[in-house]
Amino acid sequence: MFLDFTQLSPRDGYAWLTQAVIPRPIAWVSTVSADGRPNLAPFSFFQAICSNPPTLMFVPTNNRDGGKKDTLRNIEAVPEFVVNLVPYALAAPMNATAAPLPYGENEFAHADVEPAASTRVRPPRVAASPVAFECTLDRVVTIGNGVGAGNVVFGRIVAMHVADSVLAADGKAIDPAKLDLIARLSGDYYMRTGELFTITRPAGGSVQR
Ligand SMILES: Cc1cc2nc3c(=O)[nH]c(=O)nc-3n(C[C@H](O)[C@H](O)[C@H](O)COP(=O)(O)O)c2cc1C
Repeated sequence: MFLDFTQLSPRDGYAWLTQAVIPRPIAWVSTVSADGRPNLAPFSFFQAICSNPPTLMFVPTNNRDGGKKDTLRNIEAVPEFVVNLVPYALAAPMNATAAPLPYGENEFAHADVEPAASTRVRPPRVAASPVAFECTLDRVVTIGNGVGAGNVVFGRIVAMHVADSVLAADGKAIDPAKLDLIARLSGDYYMRTGELFTITRPAGGSVQR
């Protein structure tokens, strides 16, 4: 099968892209409006991208009416956010926060998610999330326009919370099995950290691991 993306509708392009680029980690992003009302929503166009400066990105695409999602509106008003990671135990409330609620309505309350105060930024974090990154806005880069266009939000990580319960025995690293994160596939499919394997990197080269 061959797909000419220059001829595909944005909707079909989205379908093929998200069926193929899997699994995608999920950023469960908390923000606040200018008057301090919290918002929480999941985004699987998400990745950590570099460590100097420590930076991650996620992408609120434009709504079906071409408008901005509440998360982006809030970040434009208050340029700070928290990326909470999603373990299997929080799959249902995470999904509930994807509901298209009117602007200003609080998804923490809607999905019965307990907030916890952040340390360096105004938006609260998700108390039960095993890892949360407090971020300040680096920049937004908009790709395209209209329905499905992407607003790439780059965040500078200023603090990280790690639950003791997901640490390895020596307390110096995260145990991926304890973290038990979920990832998005396509449609209603998700996956959970399953069988793990290790492979040793060739010596030399990059100082990064
Ligand atoms: C697992 C999951 C991943 C999602 N990933 C994205 C994404 O990467 N980009 C996006 O714009 N919407 C994504 N959505 C949809 C948004 O969460 C949804 O539009 C939400 O209502 C946006 O909330 P907001 O308007 O409060 O910002 C995703 C939904 C789910 C359940």
